[in-house]
Amino acid sequence: MAEHLLKVEHLEKSYGDKQVLRDISFEVDEGNVVVLLGPSGSGKSTLIRCLNGLEDYQAGSIVFNGETIQPSEKVWRELRQQIGMVFQSYDLFPNLTVMENILLGPMKVQRRNKAEATEQALSLLKEVGMEQYADAYPRQLSGGQKQRVAIVRALELNPKLMLFDEVTASLDPEMVRGVLEIILRLAKDKMTMVVVTHEMNFARQIADKILFLEDGKILEQTAGEQFFIKPQTNRAQTFLESMDF
Ligand SMILES: Nc1ncnc2c1ncn2[C@@H]1O[C@H](COP(=O)(O)OP(=O)(O)OP(=O)(O)O)[C@@H](O)[C@H]1O
Ligand SMILES: [Mg+2]
Repeated sequence: MAEHLLKVEHLEKSYGDKQVLRDISFEVDEGNVVVLLGPSGSGKSTLIRCLNGLEDYQAGSIVFNGETIQPSEKVWRELRQQIGMVFQSYDLFPNLTVMENILLGPMKVQRRNKAEATEQALSLLKEVGMEQYADAYPRQLSGGQKQRVAIVRALELNPKLMLFDEVTASLDPEMVRGVLEIILRLAKDKMTMVVVTHEMNFARQIADKILFLEDGKILEQTAGEQFFIKPQTNRAQTFLESMDF
């Protein structure tokens, strides 16, 4: 088993002639949580999307589970079964029930046994307090409930790595806690994760390591608790002071 589940080396990414990621290198160890922080536009979403093949990159490499990824649609399609991602907007299929949404990947892509996949889906739904909504349609759910289903749908594939990009950003305040608690529980269960969040208390609770980005560069990589006590850079200090928490 690879010591670093994920290793990013000298990643460079541009949109046209606009460079948005510069010489990004970091590692994520198995069972660890890395949180990406930084001002708006610093490249957090772009970086996390590169880790799931949703954006290409011009230079550098990503090593996952000991193997350097040779980017192609086919390779990424397979890797997305091991690297799950949840976004700010829950992209559930509106015409499918909760259960159908969750089973789509395991049935179509992984060709799993339906009874077994259904059993796992029910147990995951139960863990997030959503088992009674298996037959509901997304429009019948609140934002927080949809986001919990989106998390279950990703977990159902039994990923080795989970990516979360501001999954609570579009939720009503009273929905936020429940979703964050699910992610905290995943961390306790030693799920390896890369998380983008603006919830500083949550970041502090969950992060083994903070990557602080500005202008597409990693300004510092600091152990989670240490970052919140005293970051290494003045820029990060100013950023923390500007956050309300
Ligand atoms: N599709 C695109 N085409 C061109 N430029 C883009 C595109 N997507 C993002 N960018 C630019 O890349 C930079 C990084 O954007 P990104 O969305 O990664 O930032 P972010 O750190 O996630 O910000 P936020 O905290 O607001 O979500 C920004 O300057 C943005 O304008
Ligand atoms: Mg973003």
